Amino acid sequence: MKFAIFLLSLLTVPLFAASPDITFGQQAMVTSRSSHASKVGHDILKAGGNAVDAAVATAFALAVTYPSAGNIGGGGFAVIRLPGGEVITLDHRETAPASAHRDMYLDANGQVIKGLSTASHKAAGVPGSVDGLLVLLERYGSMSRQQVMQPAIDLATRGFALSYDLAQQMGRRLKSMAKYPASMAKFSDNGKPFKAGDIWRQADLARSLQLISDQGRDGFYKGRTAELIVREMQRSKGDITAKDLAGYQSVWRPAVRGDYRGYEIYGMGPPSSGGTLVIQILNMLEDFDLAAMGFGSASAVHLMVEAERRAYADRAEHLGDPDFYAVPLKMLLNKKYAQSRMSDYDPATASLSKDIGAGAPWPPESPETTHLSVFKGGMMVALTTTLNSGYGSKIVVPGTGILLNNEMNDFSIKENVPNLYNVIGRKANAIRGGKRMLSSMAPTLVLRAGKPFLIVGSPGGSGIITTTLQVIVNMIDHGMSVDEAVSLSRFHHQWQPDSIYYEKHGLSPDTRLILEKMGHIGFRELDYGLFLFGDANAIHIQGETVIGIKDPRNEGAALGY
Ligand code: DON
Repeated sequence: MKFAIFLLSLLTVPLFAASPDITFGQQAMVTSRSSHASKVGHDILKAGGNAVDAAVATAFALAVTYPSAGNIGGGGFAVIRLPGGEVITLDHRETAPASAHRDMYLDANGQVIKGLSTASHKAAGVPGSVDGLLVLLERYGSMSRQQVMQPAIDLATRGFALSYDLAQQMGRRLKSMAKYPASMAKFSDNGKPFKAGDIWRQADLARSLQLISDQGRDGFYKGRTAELIVREMQRSKGDITAKDLAGYQSVWRPAVRGDYRGYEIYGMGPPSSGGTLVIQILNMLEDFDLAAMGFGSASAVHLMVEAERRAYADRAEHLGDPDFYAVPLKMLLNKKYAQSRMSDYDPATASLSKDIGAGAPWPPESPETTHLSVFKGGMMVALTTTLNSGYGSKIVVPGTGILLNNEMNDFSIKENVPNLYNVIGRKANAIRGGKRMLSSMAPTLVLRAGKPFLIVGSPGGSGIITTTLQVIVNMIDHGMSVDEAVSLSRFHHQWQPDSIYYEKHGLSPDTRLILEKMGHIGFRELDYGLFLFGDANAIHIQGETVIGIKDPRNEGAALGY
């Protein structure tokens, strides 16, 4: 009898459950920043949906359960491998409203008006997420819009218990939301912070989602929701018009491709800098024996910092929306070009990023974007989405439950003036009506001999690129398991400011000393737990086994079977 109960208990335990962060499966996996959203994706997979169905369902759910970055008022990028092997990308990045122009955030003296591109109605780009998710579903999904959206609608209508993390996060934003009644109504309990365990319902958002479910893109870009957005814009000197909304379109673009030590790397091309920089940096590293240098050694950190410094300098000069600016993509992805960029690399001495004052501080605001990965039946989906900073502009459009993004700050609001992530830009990323602002988002797929190997990406502003890069290097060069590769401490250099940022314990004191002796400057240790250095929710496909990891820096879940 006892033995029978023991057997029964085995049957009710998920076959491959491990720790909350790492999950093993044989067929399918989803990993995201929200356990509710991952469960939605998992249920869709189990119900016969493919990886695109699950990614779309998870993304809509994230708009409900991870409001800091999950969204229908923002935008994102998806990189998809179809079961037959073709890799394509969908750009659903926000666009500048038609009336936007280069100097729109400058005063009469040409000075940047503080907060205008980050915390005002003018900060918002025309949202791309809804069009993007629906276009993805229509082209490559197998389920109906109603089927993949219902779980998100249910979560918004019935509510869910707030975790301590989410309650705290929302509570911290109330000060900056105080002047927006609709934001306060949504994110506070009658003006007071929510507590862990409170049931959080979002009736307005449920209605907005229902309209999309019923009417498709017209349920967002036209009709009630569009009218409410436009009314809010008109009331508050915002720029988005009914025409901007009705005209928004996501764009299929070819993936950028690189080859690194026998692995194929597929990433998001412009208007994201993510894929291009990941590949460019890998190209610069390929001629060196990183494995022999060893993970975390001064020589490995030095090499990677020098490659990053050069690639981010190119980002500032060359990258922007390819529909508006001739991005020299072939050059940037070329291995010979990478070699020429590294021709002055000295393994013993740091180069200095020029034109630099004292290192500007890392953005004080905890930045938020979110990345989800899905795998099933040879189909791989890497999808990163954002409102830009946490909770975007903090402005909820009354009656809709929708947060406006503050993505316009990703443009170069003035030549060489740093954005929220301290990256600068020039003509390539100057503001124009209808143009897409440059991104660092880097949803990435890695294959080996044409077979799925890794799905990865991350939030973290300019650090998205180096986070994604390190997971890849950790696995390919240092032979780490995916959980080690994601969990271990990270570092970051972005040319300007001339600083090596690193997570607490990321550089041992003697490693740092060696780097200082080489001439590296501007060391900035970021407290683990205080600053969240990326959130790389990844899936590793290892033969017949599918391994999902939720980045242990944050909440969420990897769920598979
Ligand atoms: O597109 C970009 O590069 C930024 N808007 C991403 C912002 C971000 O990752 C904030 N997250 N942690």
